[in-house]
Amino acid sequence: MFAGIKKQNLKFYLVFFLVVVCVDIALYVAFIKDVEIAYTHFFYVPVILAAMWYRKKAMYAAVFLSSIYLFVSYYSLNVALPVTVSTGVVLIMVAYVVGIASERQAKAEDLIETSLREKELLLKEIRYRVKNNMQVINSLLSLQSKYITDKKALESFKETRGRVLAMALVHEELYSSGDLSKISVSHYIETMANQLFRVHNIDHEIVTIKTSVEDVVLGIDMAIPCGLIISELISNTLKHAFPDGRRGEIFIGLHQDKDSIIHLMVKDNGMGMPQDVNLDDPDTLGLLLVKILARQLDASVAVEREGGTTIKLDFKVKEQPDSMISPKV
Ligand SMILES: Nc1ncnc2c1ncn2[C@@H]1O[C@H](COP(=O)(O)OP(=O)(O)O)[C@@H](O)[C@H]1O
Ligand SMILES: [Mg+2]
Repeated sequence: MFAGIKKQNLKFYLVFFLVVVCVDIALYVAFIKDVEIAYTHFFYVPVILAAMWYRKKAMYAAVFLSSIYLFVSYYSLNVALPVTVSTGVVLIMVAYVVGIASERQAKAEDLIETSLREKELLLKEIRYRVKNNMQVINSLLSLQSKYITDKKALESFKETRGRVLAMALVHEELYSSGDLSKISVSHYIETMANQLFRVHNIDHEIVTIKTSVEDVVLGIDMAIPCGLIISELISNTLKHAFPDGRRGEIFIGLHQDKDSIIHLMVKDNGMGMPQDVNLDDPDTLGLLLVKILARQLDASVAVEREGGTTIKLDFKVKEQPDSMISPKV
């Protein structure tokens, strides 16, 4: 029934309607019923509502209703003038006091909203600067690597660039997402995979990538370890699975089940991870990082070495408060 009427208009009509009802009661009781009781307590309802919604403007309604009361008292009721006047004054005072109280509350709410908006802007600025600084680190590493001739050292630089980019990307996603504390994993993985192909100079024609990633949303606390693990696993496939320009395919799968458990899978059809590489007790930095970060996520890790390498991680999404929590990395 009220669907077409705006909330603000509805409030005005309600106050107006209640004032009219009060006037009708006053006139009806005084002139038609000829009773000497004035039902002035009804007058407080529209006056208090108006004071809550329209602040001190409610005094217009209070003055108007007081005048009506004065009018009916003078012409019909046998109420002494000082009593009528004091009733009217109390009504006006109620309108004034409630009006001031609601004005103060509105000001306090405005203040909170402004400071919240300022904090959001500040947080956005921080995310932006962190992302920029990390991109500067990446550029520095990239420039420095141009002077490195040792193949192993060069690989280490590439790996470090990949890790820095994975973290920078989390901040970029946080900055550009509406919610400054959560990221959409599907967009993140896609962008990160493209960046890693560029860092490792791998042609998309030679190694193709397929993804089946649900649009899971993660808080910053989980996004950074999760992003670093995926970055580590993708760069491993790019580095080790397809030696000597071998063609192949990488598959990244991520889905969340109804118990909020995320199933992550990075699979390739390359040469397969050597049997002596042990994920529970790795000798090398990449897999050690995967182990540490997986522990941080309380994730279980499994590896399959048939027809390439498949690494599966299962972990539960932990609720985080929407705040500026700093990640543990
Ligand atoms: N997808 C993969 N395919 C084949 N071998 C792999 C794969 N991932 C890891 N490996 C093997 O596991 C080893 C350890 O990996 P990692 O700890 O990341 O160290 P790094 O990448 O620096 O060699 C690699 O040297 C490689 O032999
Ligand atoms: Mg590695």
